Amino acid sequence: MKNIENIKTVVFPVAGLGSRFLPATKSVAKELFPILNIPLIEYAVDEAKKSGIEKFIFVISREKLQVARHFETNSKLERELKSKNKKFLEVITKNRIPKNNIFKVFQERPLGLGHAIWCARKYIDGPFAVVLPDDLVFSKTPCIQQLVDIYKKHKTSVIGIQEVSMDRVNQYGIIKTDNQKTNDIMTIQDIVEKPSIKRAPSNLAIIGRYVLSYNIIEELSKKQTGVGGEIQLTDALKNSINTSRVLGYKFEGKRFDCGNVMGAIEAQVFAALKEDLYKKDMTKILQKFLKKDY
Ligand code: G1P
Repeated sequence: MKNIENIKTVVFPVAGLGSRFLPATKSVAKELFPILNIPLIEYAVDEAKKSGIEKFIFVISREKLQVARHFETNSKLERELKSKNKKFLEVITKNRIPKNNIFKVFQERPLGLGHAIWCARKYIDGPFAVVLPDDLVFSKTPCIQQLVDIYKKHKTSVIGIQEVSMDRVNQYGIIKTDNQKTNDIMTIQDIVEKPSIKRAPSNLAIIGRYVLSYNIIEELSKKQTGVGGEIQLTDALKNSINTSRVLGYKFEGKRFDCGNVMGAIEAQVFAALKEDLYKKDMTKILQKFLKKDY
């Protein structure tokens, strides 16, 4: 293992079927859906770049190669824009990731989030970040940066946490801790993937941001299947608690679940209201609708 301290690697597990967004996801990857004019995956890559990440691993399916291509050179389009529109040329070149820093790994079958991370193992040589692009976070300090800072201080895995309403606990990994009220950083005592309300140990949910020690890859190699017959990252984390501490962190920021329709709509409205370019028009539209003037 080369680096123990610096988090320079991120894994984007983006091979999922996007079932909650069918039929749109039949032909377009949900990670390419835009919030305003920027695709979800670009927000995720940007967040990672701003957090000092240099190595970007995309775990994709053959049908979703386009997600990684978004960050490569598009010579034809660049040639066209060079003569026609320099402003747009800048927009599509500034999001590029250098060729040597992009790694594509195929997850041939959707066997779960844990399996997706395990598929990336040959490019992982130390602690690493995981970002689920459909969890979009707007924050002052990039969310992954917040987790990296905690990892560096405590030298152990840390997971992004948020409170959710009890009727939603069955959509998340839910943690058990006993110092949740006193601190933003908490030691995780147990985790359950998608529990029923009855079985949920709290309403503290795992959000798609993780900074993980390398030992999680060894846990994932055991290929234990869990909820939905899938290899769950949550189960590997739960097992690793016996040997090393796993922290939860209530990060600063506003998070939207863009993997479902209403979450994505909410993110669109929020993003428009915080952009000078769209704020005025968005406000007008909302006022009009609230007055039922349509
Ligand atoms: C995954 C994880 C879950 C986590 C969630 C956050 O579930 O398995 O523990 O709470 O991401 O978005 P998924 O949404 O992929 O089913």
